Amino acid sequence: MSELNTDPEQTPTDEATAAAAAISAEDAFAEIAAQGHAAAQLDPTAEPVIEVEDLKMYFPVKSSGLVRRVIGHVQAVDGISFQVPKGGSLGLVGESGCGKSTTGRLITRLYTPTAGAMRFGGLDMATVSNREMKPLRKEVQMIFQDPYTSLNPRHTVGAIVGAPLAVHKVVPRKQIIPRVQELLEVVGLNPEHYNRYPNEFSGGQRQRIGIARALTLNPKLLVADEPVSALDVSIQAQVINLMQDLQREFDIAFLFIAHDLAIVRHFCPEVAVMYLGKIVEIADRESIYGHAHHPYTQALLSAVPDVRQAAVGGRRERIRLEGDVPSPINPPSGCRFRTRCHLAQEICAKVEPPLLQIGPRHKVACHFAGELGDAPATPVTAGLLGVDGQGSPEPGTTPETLTIGPGFEDRWFDVKSRTMVTA
Ligand SMILES: Nc1ncnc2c1ncn2[C@@H]1O[C@H](COP(=O)(O)OP(=O)(O)OP(=O)(O)O)[C@@H](O)[C@H]1O
Ligand code: SF4
Ligand SMILES: [Mg+2]
Repeated sequence: MSELNTDPEQTPTDEATAAAAAISAEDAFAEIAAQGHAAAQLDPTAEPVIEVEDLKMYFPVKSSGLVRRVIGHVQAVDGISFQVPKGGSLGLVGESGCGKSTTGRLITRLYTPTAGAMRFGGLDMATVSNREMKPLRKEVQMIFQDPYTSLNPRHTVGAIVGAPLAVHKVVPRKQIIPRVQELLEVVGLNPEHYNRYPNEFSGGQRQRIGIARALTLNPKLLVADEPVSALDVSIQAQVINLMQDLQREFDIAFLFIAHDLAIVRHFCPEVAVMYLGKIVEIADRESIYGHAHHPYTQALLSAVPDVRQAAVGGRRERIRLEGDVPSPINPPSGCRFRTRCHLAQEICAKVEPPLLQIGPRHKVACHFAGELGDAPATPVTAGLLGVDGQGSPEPGTTPETLTIGPGFEDRWFDVKSRTMVTA
């Protein structure tokens, strides 16, 4: 399926081709999804399996030459907070380069974060030693995007799926093959095929092998980084259905990274939208797809081709995103989206908007947060932050103490009345 199209230069010919492809994609997805499962639902009472707080990942940028000095940092992830409920799914969306994969790699501790916390099973995965991390690695696994490159072509399926069992010594050696065969059956593959090589399988089958490998150690949390975007659309829905089956059967939580907002809507009852290393909006499905309050979320949703608008909750007028994403080495001051935002005003350059809770399960980071076509004339955040309409300190006012943790509180800021309300 195609990536989000936010290119203002697109020609009518491109649009016609994209629309035709989208119609057939939509038909195929709808046909197979209809034979599959209903959209996953939110359990608001579920405890979080992971809590991420103020997580940062800065990659050093070095000068060229003999003495390579650090001359800056790529702020790939810059202070994000969220939680994933036990057995639930949080979708992570945003344009290329906004920090989605880095977030996934931090959570699986393929990277060690620069700062922040990742609380899981009573430990903070951000700070534990490699020895303490070893048992946690079993519980947090990853499904990769590309089933063609993520499986070693020289290893048999049995060796690939069985490797984690051997490394973590969770079953006696002679039980590895029966366990691998059981897993192949769980993901809908022929258990007798454990001796075959990845190139003997189709893309969808390979992704099933990748899923079997991720399941080997009974994880509680799976990070799925674009798990279906390399697959044909008819296969995408089958793999999504498989992941839903597995989620229900084994109570697995997912951090689901994807470009396709229709698939995210189907699979994830909650969605976080990232822009340039920050979460700009995070909410339950109904609030994101029905009542997005951030101009960036609104632009992403409106960029979905017309024929697929129904799959993301209804038809919307197109909002074109101007310009390119700025460099994460030197992001804009204040709100990072301001260089591309049609609502931007003086305060947006001066003050960073906090990720404010504006509903029972809805947070947004925008001084002018409002529904599409309903942007407020004055910043909704000014009173809370103790600043005037231009973002300069307002004498005699005291900023509110805002708690911006990973979860949702029973008290939030109502943007219409501009008062704090309680559930
Ligand atoms: N190992 C690294 N060293 C330096 N910079 C990196 C590294 N990994 C990622 N980055 C940078 O961090 C930013 C975020 O990258 P990331 O891969 O997380 O984006 P993404 O949202 O997954 O994008 P895509 O949708 O294209 O997969 C990008 O600017 C990228 O160039
Ligand atoms: S804070 Fe300002 S620049 Fe940022 S999204 Fe809101 S209106 Fe746009
Ligand atoms: Mg990525």
